[in-house]
Amino acid sequence: MHPPVSARLEAIVSLLLPCRALADVCSDHGLVALAAVQRGIAGRAICADLRAAPLEVARRNIARANLADRVTAVQGDGLAPFASGAVDAVVIAGVSGALIVRLLTAHPEITGSLTQLIAAPNQDADVVRAWALAAGFHLRAEAMVSERGYFFTIGAYRQGEGQDPLYEHPEWSAPELCVLGPLLVAQRDTVTLRACEQQRSRLGKLVARGITAREAEHALWSRACAALSRSGG
Ligand SMILES: C[S@@+](CC[C@H](N)C(=O)[O-])C[C@H]1O[C@@H](n2cnc3c(N)ncnc32)[C@H](O)[C@@H]1O
Repeated sequence: MHPPVSARLEAIVSLLLPCRALADVCSDHGLVALAAVQRGIAGRAICADLRAAPLEVARRNIARANLADRVTAVQGDGLAPFASGAVDAVVIAGVSGALIVRLLTAHPEITGSLTQLIAAPNQDADVVRAWALAAGFHLRAEAMVSERGYFFTIGAYRQGEGQDPLYEHPEWSAPELCVLGPLLVAQRDTVTLRACEQQRSRLGKLVARGITAREAEHALWSRACAALSRSGG
C-alpha cells in the first residue's frame, strides 16, 4: 500500500473524473498520481517535478505500491516533459497560483487539449480563477479544505464554450467571484465560512493599523462572511 493520503490530497483525488493519462505536475511525493491509478480513476499517471530529490520520493512510493508499470516519474519544469496529447488530465497542487498559471500558459498545446484540470494552489487562488475564466476553462467543482491550521482551495475545471456562466451573478461581480470562488460562495459550507472569517479578521487588523489599501478587500470578505452566515452555515 502507498502512504495514506491527507485530507487535502484526498479532496483533490475525489474531484478527479476518470481519465486516460494523468499528469501530477509539481508532484513531489506522487501520492495523487498513485491514488488516482490505484482507485481506477486514471489509466496511468506521470509524476513530474522540477527537482530530483522529490522525484526520488515519488519513485520510492511508486515502487512500494508496485505500480511502476502504470505510474512513472519525470523531471522538468511544469508541463515541459509532456508531448502534446500525452495526457488528458492535469493536477497541479501545493504551489502558488501564479506558478500554476505560468506553467499552464507556457504550454498552450498541452493545456488546450486537456479534458480536465485540477488546480490546488497554496495561495493566490484568485489568480488561477481569473486565468481560467479568460482561458475558457469552466469551473466544475470547488472545495475548501482545512489542514494543519491552513485553508486550501481546490478547483476542478473542464474546457467550456464562451464565458463561464458561474461568473454571471446578481450579487457578486466577476472579479469578486475570482477572489471568493463562485462555487464556494454558492455551496456555503462551514469550512468556507471559517476561511472567510479568517480573511476578514486578518484584513481587519491591517485596516485597523491604518493600511487603507486593504479596505476594499476587507469589505469583500466581510460581505462574504455575512452571505455565508445568512445560509445558516
Ligand atoms: C509543496 S510541494 C507540493 C507537492 C504536492 N503536489 C502536494 O500538493 O502535496 C511543491 C513541489 O513543486 C515542485 N516544483 C516547484 N516548481 C516547479 C516547477 N516549475 N515545475 C515542476 N515542479 C515544480 C517542487 O520541487 C516541490 O516538489
